[in-house]
Amino acid sequence: MAPSPRAMRSLSPLYSLLLLTGAAMAAADPWSTDCPSDTNYTRGGVFQANLDDLLSFLPAAASVAAGLAENTTGREPDEAYGLAHCRADVNASECRSCLDTSARDAAIKCPGQKKSTLFYEACLLRHSNVSFFGVADMSWLTGLCNAVNATQPELFKTQLGALMNNLSSRAASSPRLFAADTVDLTPFTKIYGMSQCTRDLAGDDCNRCLAVAVSYIPKFCDGREGGRVATRSCSIRYELYPFYNAQAAEAAMSPPAPPPPAVNGSDHSGPAERAGNDDATAKIALFVSIPVAAVLLVVLTVAFYLCKRKNKKPREHVLLSSAGECFLVD
Ligand SMILES: *[C@@H]1O[C@H](CO)[C@@H](O)[C@H](O)[C@H]1NC(C)=O
Ligand SMILES: *[C@@H]1O[C@H](CO)[C@@H](O)[C@H](O)[C@H]1NC(C)=O
Ligand SMILES: *[C@@H]1O[C@H](CO)[C@@H](O)[C@H](O)[C@H]1NC(C)=O
Ligand SMILES: *[C@@H]1O[C@H](CO)[C@@H](O)[C@H](O)[C@H]1NC(C)=O
Ligand SMILES: *[C@@H]1O[C@H](CO)[C@@H](O)[C@H](O)[C@H]1NC(C)=O
Ligand SMILES: *[C@@H]1O[C@H](CO)[C@@H](O)[C@H](O)[C@H]1NC(C)=O
Ligand SMILES: *[C@@H]1O[C@H](CO)[C@@H](O)[C@H](O)[C@H]1NC(C)=O
Repeated sequence: MAPSPRAMRSLSPLYSLLLLTGAAMAAADPWSTDCPSDTNYTRGGVFQANLDDLLSFLPAAASVAAGLAENTTGREPDEAYGLAHCRADVNASECRSCLDTSARDAAIKCPGQKKSTLFYEACLLRHSNVSFFGVADMSWLTGLCNAVNATQPELFKTQLGALMNNLSSRAASSPRLFAADTVDLTPFTKIYGMSQCTRDLAGDDCNRCLAVAVSYIPKFCDGREGGRVATRSCSIRYELYPFYNAQAAEAAMSPPAPPPPAVNGSDHSGPAERAGNDDATAKIALFVSIPVAAVLLVVLTVAFYLCKRKNKKPREHVLLSSAGECFLVD
C-alpha cells in the first residue's frame, strides 16, 4: 500500500520519492535533486562568483583524484564549499563527463541557490555556503524505485536484507567506502547491490549513514524488485540486473596495490642505491612473473569452464564472481 502524499510529507526526516515507471531516464539527467529554496544568493554577487569558480574546477579535480574532490572558494560571508564525487567503478573519463554535466546542471536545476545536491547514476555534486566536509548528513533522503513488484516478495526481502547489510559493513571498512556484490535470489536470478559513501566520511559515519539508507528500503520501495536510496552523504542501490561494472567494482574494493615486494639483491642496498640493482631486479621479476602468469592462465581457464557450467552449479558464484562478466547472466 502506497503512503498518501500527506503521510509522506509528515514523515521526518524530509524525503522525496519517485517511482520509475518503465521508460528509462536519460543517463545524463540527475535522478534526484535536493534544492532547498531558502538559500537564495544575489545574482551577480560575490557568492555567485565564488560558486562559479568552484564548479569550474571540481569536475577536473575529482576525475584525476580517483573520483573525489572537495574545495572552498572565497571568504566569509560569501565562502562557497563544494564536493564532487564519482561512483568507484566509474573510470576517469566517465567521471569527468558526469561531473561536467552536473556543474552545468547546478545552475539550471537549482537556480540561485547557495545549497544544492545533484544525484546522477555515476556521480554526485554538492555545494553550500556552510562547510559540510567529513560530516554524515542524513537529514534528507531521496528514493527511486523500480515500478515492477518482486515475484517472491518474502524471499526477495530476506536475500536483499542480507546483501545490503553485508555491503554496508564492507563499504564502511573499505578504502573507497564502496562495495558492490550479488546474492542469489533463485538458482537463475541474482540481486545486484551497491553501497557507497562520499569518501570524505570516516568509516563509522559511513556505516551509520548506510544503515539509515537501508532502513528506508521498506518505506520507499517495499516489494519492488529494484530501488535506490540516497542521503547527501551515502547511497545504496539494488536491481535484478547488473548496473555497475563488476570488474571495476572488484578492483575498487581491493585495498590499494601494495608496494612491490622487496627483492633482496646480492647486497641489501636501500632505495638510494636501487638504480644499480635494476638489472637483477628485472631478471628476478621475469623469473617470478612467468610461473605466476602460467598459474593465472590455468586458473582463468578453469574459471571460464566453470562459468559456462554455472547454470547447473549456482553455488560456485562466490569463488568465481571475481572472474568477470561471465557471471552477469540474466
Ligand atoms: C528564492 O528564489 C526563488 C526563485 O527565484 C523564489 O521562488 C523564492 O521565493 C526565493 N526565496 C527567498 C527566501 O527569497
Ligand atoms: C548561508 O546562507 C544562508 C541563506 O542566505 C544564511 O542565512 C546563512 O547565514 C549562511 N551561512 C553562512 C555560514 O554563511
Ligand atoms: C583548491 O583549489 C585550488 C585551486 O583553486 C588548489 O590550488 C587547491 O589545492 C585546492 N585545494 C584542495 C584541498 O584540493
Ligand atoms: C570508460 O567507461 C565508459 C563507460 O563504461 C567506456 O565507454 C569507456 O570506453 C571507458 N574509457 C576508458 C578509457 O576506459
Ligand atoms: C505491486 O504491489 C502493490 C502492493 O502489493 C500493488 O498495490 C500494486 O498494484 C502492484 N503493482 C503491480 C504493477 O503489480
Ligand atoms: C559478506 O558476504 C561475503 C560472502 O558473500 C562474506 O565472505 C563476507 O564475510 C561478508 N561480510 C560481512 C561483513 O558480512
Ligand atoms: C631480505 O633481507 C633482509 C635484510 O637483510 C632480511 O631480513 C630478509 O629476511 C630478506 N628477505 C628475504 C625474502 O630473503
